[in-house]
Amino acid sequence: MKNKLHIFENLQQTAESVAEILSEKINRKNGFFYLAVSGGNTPKILFETLAERYAEKIRWNKLKLFWVDERCVLPTDKESNFGMTYNALLKHIPIPDENIFRIKGENNPETEAVEYQKKIEENLSFENNLPTFDLILLGMGDDGHTASIFPDNLFLLNVSDIVAVAKHPASGQKRITLTGRIIKNSAEIFFLITGKSKKEVFKQIFDDVKTAENLPSYHIIKATNAEIFADKEVIG
Ligand code: 6PG
Repeated sequence: MKNKLHIFENLQQTAESVAEILSEKINRKNGFFYLAVSGGNTPKILFETLAERYAEKIRWNKLKLFWVDERCVLPTDKESNFGMTYNALLKHIPIPDENIFRIKGENNPETEAVEYQKKIEENLSFENNLPTFDLILLGMGDDGHTASIFPDNLFLLNVSDIVAVAKHPASGQKRITLTGRIIKNSAEIFFLITGKSKKEVFKQIFDDVKTAENLPSYHIIKATNAEIFADKEVIG
């Protein structure tokens, strides 16, 4: 695997390391830093760390913040990725409202996917004829999904739209997600993977075995220089 693997003692230390790297990247960038973040547990700890330790250290007005995916719920719902980010981070830091580009999970999903794609195209610069983020933070589910690209909708890795509507395979919950082409076009990708429930799937990816081909995360990792930030429980 050509991808860099960073291993930490636990989730907290993983989050602390990514927070420090992120802070340097945002402050160092000439102009705006375009970041897309995921939902879930790992980023929550990262956001809390940023709020506690970096509220005054990061030049937040340089950050243009987007989401990798959103659950189709109200922003106040406990399932909302925006809501989680708002509570853990945004309400504690001086980021201008106009720098926040949330996916409106409360709107009609198909219409919102088009609107969100437009927002990305209007704001980001283009590389390879596609908008490009400076950094995309991804997580990985126990089933190998990343963003809201699940093993049963692998085609979203290659569709031409950069934003699409997806469905959670178990709950049927609709999601709006970045697709593979724009994820792979990001200048940098960090995967945050922690906890022993991910060990089995991670091993398949790391060992590059045949079954890994059903795992969306595998395809993103394999096609890019994505760096992986994991804790010891994942490595086993
Ligand atoms: C979401 C995500 C999703 C997430 C993984 C890992 O909205 O659920 O963006 O892709 O990154 O499910 O989540 P955890 O960090 O909670 O394990």
